[in-house]
Amino acid sequence: TKRVAIFISGGGSNMIRLLDSMTGDHPARVCVVLSNNPKAGGLERAEERGVPTEIVRHQPFGADTSGFEHAILGALAEHKPDIICLAGFMRILTAEFVNRWRGKMLNIHPSLLPKYKGLHTHARALAAGDTVHGCTVHEVTPALDDGPILGQARVPVLAGDTAETLAARVLVQEHILYPMVLRRFVGGDTAPVFLDG
Ligand code: GAR
Repeated sequence: TKRVAIFISGGGSNMIRLLDSMTGDHPARVCVVLSNNPKAGGLERAEERGVPTEIVRHQPFGADTSGFEHAILGALAEHKPDIICLAGFMRILTAEFVNRWRGKMLNIHPSLLPKYKGLHTHARALAAGDTVHGCTVHEVTPALDDGPILGQARVPVLAGDTAETLAARVLVQEHILYPMVLRRFVGGDTAPVFLDG
């Protein structure tokens, strides 16, 4: 059984879907939920389910990202993860950290990559007049929101959409896509899946 660490910074709705998916004959189990933000709502939700949590605050390290990352590695050590899933983790990791987990770290991003890397993806899709938007799960490589695509889910952009309504429509698909991709990935299947929501 593969051991999965999930990194969050916020509410953790994707984290919940991932950890609830890892039951029964699933080839992986969650071993820890780690947050850089002590106020992340997801921490409580993980604890309610009896999942170990770790908080590694980034502020004390300031610009010393590698110090932050060494603290993360220290916090992870006892949980011995095989795979890391970034799920709304809002810190950029260095190439050193990413390369250490090469082929073992996934991320979900709220756009149809390679479009709209970075932040404010829904507002940018609306501003561009896109009629289709969505989310992507990809392997993490040192370049931000890059790396082999493992799955994408598309949603329509509807008349009258705001960034909020569009984000909510995309999130529904994130919750379907990420558990599906993780399960395939753990089974060794890295062929991308494409869903239409
Ligand atoms: C999700 O929409 C995820 O795709 C996005 O943050 C949200 C987290 O929600 N991730 C990023 O923007 C990564 N740069 P959640 O905490 O409810 O899963």
